Amino acid sequence: MPGAALILHGVNLNLLGTREPAVYGRTTLAAVDRLIKEHGRKRGLRVECRQSNLEGELVNWLQGARREGFLGVVFNPGAFTHYSIALRDAVAAIEVPVVEVHLSNVHAREEFRRHSVIAAAARGQISGFGPESYLLGLDALLALGKRRR
Ligand code: DQA
Repeated sequence: MPGAALILHGVNLNLLGTREPAVYGRTTLAAVDRLIKEHGRKRGLRVECRQSNLEGELVNWLQGARREGFLGVVFNPGAFTHYSIALRDAVAAIEVPVVEVHLSNVHAREEFRRHSVIAAAARGQISGFGPESYLLGLDALLALGKRRR
């Protein structure tokens, strides 16, 4: 059993399924979480999924990730991606690896989405594969874990 991973969904991601379906699809957050958990289960990984619209709550979860025993974090900050220095600093401050993920291809959309203030502090970024981005993020965490051994 490789351990447990924390999935963090940021602002507005609770609205998945009904929010701009042409961009984000019709899969609800609960269904995305089921897909992620199933993917983790196949790899012997326990997955915990949390969502918040509050920047400070996400900061607290990032700060607590090590203490709670998570081997890494797959993080979709939503719009916080583009301006939250507080989240960037939290990602930089913690020792557990963080993989930034996005459902949409942020580089193929509006200009302001092309820049992530988080990306340089994260171990890497996966963008544009719909719910699959989270599954790739989990696999990236596992690959990082193997690399360290
Ligand atoms: C998003 C991309 C962000 O630009 C946007 O603000 C979101 C969702 C994505 O998953 O594609 O809320 O993070």
